[in-house]
Amino acid sequence: MTEQQFIPPPYSKFVDSGSVTWQSPSNIALVKYWGKKHHQLPENPSISFTLNHCKTITTLTYSKKADPSAFDFEVFLDGEKKDDFKSKIKTFFERVEPYLPFLKHYHFKIETRNTFPHSSGIASSASGMSALALCLMSVENELSAGTSTVETSFFNQKASFLARLGSGSACRSIEGDLVVWGKHQQIEGSSDLYGVKYPYNIHPNFKQYQDTILLVDKGEKQVSSTVGHNLMHNHPFAAKRFEQAHQNLEVLITILESGDIKSFIQLIESEALTLHAMMMTSLPFFILMKPNTLEVINRIWKFRAETNANIGFTLDAGANVHVLYPKAEADQIMDFIKNELVGFCQGGQYICDEIGFGASRVS
Ligand code: DP6
Repeated sequence: MTEQQFIPPPYSKFVDSGSVTWQSPSNIALVKYWGKKHHQLPENPSISFTLNHCKTITTLTYSKKADPSAFDFEVFLDGEKKDDFKSKIKTFFERVEPYLPFLKHYHFKIETRNTFPHSSGIASSASGMSALALCLMSVENELSAGTSTVETSFFNQKASFLARLGSGSACRSIEGDLVVWGKHQQIEGSSDLYGVKYPYNIHPNFKQYQDTILLVDKGEKQVSSTVGHNLMHNHPFAAKRFEQAHQNLEVLITILESGDIKSFIQLIESEALTLHAMMMTSLPFFILMKPNTLEVINRIWKFRAETNANIGFTLDAGANVHVLYPKAEADQIMDFIKNELVGFCQGGQYICDEIGFGASRVS
């Protein structure tokens, strides 16, 4: 697949107006995307668990307009007009317009809400951009109906391709339960252009995996993703890091097949700490962990050493901790989280999530 294949043939149908709703989840990377090239192309392949409960629900209402000279849209979050979201969406529209040539012909009302608190420090760009991309795909489907109704696999692939142009990690939110984005030698069908469902065997140990998100710091992101990814340009360890991500993904294939949870935990924790190490060793440098992030990590390690429980963590580009563990151990581990970790969360807040299977249309 090349970009060209996402340019549609002329639309066959005239549609005056309509409305469509999609819900799309967030995802948590196991091997991290950190560093990108032009056009939202990743410097290295990444893989993530799709989440189930942290979602964005977006309704796109569209009506034909007479003057197709510019984009025309308004954005609402929880019913409130959000003009500060417009520049990000305008950039997205500019990037995807070659692939969605109807964009300037309609007025759009974008109404969106998240199932998780906006000020939770959980990025809504993955769920938000993927939900919007899916809504736009449904509009395109309407315009194309009658000729060849777009097949699900192409629909998902193009939705992922479009979502990537909004936010890289968003391309991993269309499907589940594990999604790979970025070309990897050993992973058939993998591409820098869009995410693909992980194509190989996954041991039952990794089915229904749990993710309890500890909200250590609910503040705005200290480093925007654009600034963050740019830190990898001229980074002294960049080349080695990109190579390591390829190797880690290769090792993960074996782990996912064998069900070796101990190796899994070692790999994801190393990825999380490497992500933060990249930030600490770039110029300018950042420390995105808070003292409570380290407290949580040390408690997890201590509890694991004492009980042999299969509890591990990963981090995003922030202070919150994603605690990952198999469902079979949920009772014991949730007790530990409630008794020992919740005290380190801002306002005692945490979110219980688990692996999910991707976005769905809401009727
Ligand atoms: C640390 O997808 O938010 O979460 O492409 O600039 O929108 P943009 O970046 P974004 O970066 C996510 C980085 C990460 C790791 C990951 O999800 O793989």
